Amino acid sequence: MRQARRVPLVAGNWKMHTTYEEALRLAGVFRERLDGVDGVECALIPPFPWIVPVAERLSGSTLVLGAQNCATIDEGALTGEVSARMLAPFCRYVIVGHSERRHQLGESDEMVAAKLQAALRNGLAPILCVGELLEERDQGIAEATVERQLLHALRNVQADQVRRLVIAYEPVWAIGTGRPATPEDAQAMARFIRQWVEARFGAALADAVRVQYGGSVNARNAEAFLRLPDVDGALVGGASLDVEQFSQIVRLAGEVGRSEHGVTAVDSR
Ligand code: PGA
Repeated sequence: MRQARRVPLVAGNWKMHTTYEEALRLAGVFRERLDGVDGVECALIPPFPWIVPVAERLSGSTLVLGAQNCATIDEGALTGEVSARMLAPFCRYVIVGHSERRHQLGESDEMVAAKLQAALRNGLAPILCVGELLEERDQGIAEATVERQLLHALRNVQADQVRRLVIAYEPVWAIGTGRPATPEDAQAMARFIRQWVEARFGAALADAVRVQYGGSVNARNAEAFLRLPDVDGALVGGASLDVEQFSQIVRLAGEVGRSEHGVTAVDSR
């Protein structure tokens, strides 16, 4: 069920794309087009080296920043890692458990849980990615897979931290393939996730937590996902680097947010 306080979040995950110049240009153009759009929160998630300059470009606007990953610990001898503590001055969000990290870089459920804890203890809002492989869907264990991911990642999360959490349902087979889930399947899994949160943390927090859909979202198919009752925005990869498409997706989410969520201003959490 929709709650007025659930502001849709549209987050653009730039992955390992853009040069420094492109990143600054994109940030400037998105600021021009999207600053102040009501009914939606818009986050840009650039590669690590562009976080500080992009933060400067966005400063004073309603657009916020996220990071694509963080370390499991806050500081130490961990060559090449970037900690949530380092990101916290610049970012509101951090993606944890993206499928590309789980499946291409061997990130385990335990590592995802530790990263989620690192994000929370440093005041960041984690965007926890969950989702099944195609063979898991074919075997009828999509929900069991997502449940396992939730169980591990949220094992040590306290109820008062759940409000800050965003859960992104991203079926692995839909990411970067141009083959999104059907809106029916996305709604069913978003509902399943919300019910799981309700069983674990209670109805009020289940109503408050935002569940995004991600996987081949573009300007043409976005509205169908954004209007689903249990989906609160989108995690956008490829289309987030396309100025026209991403702007349109954010504006659509704003319309949905204003009309269906009764949201008029960006949440200041
Ligand atoms: P995609 O990526 O929109 O390119 O499918 C989504 C994601 O990986 O978050």
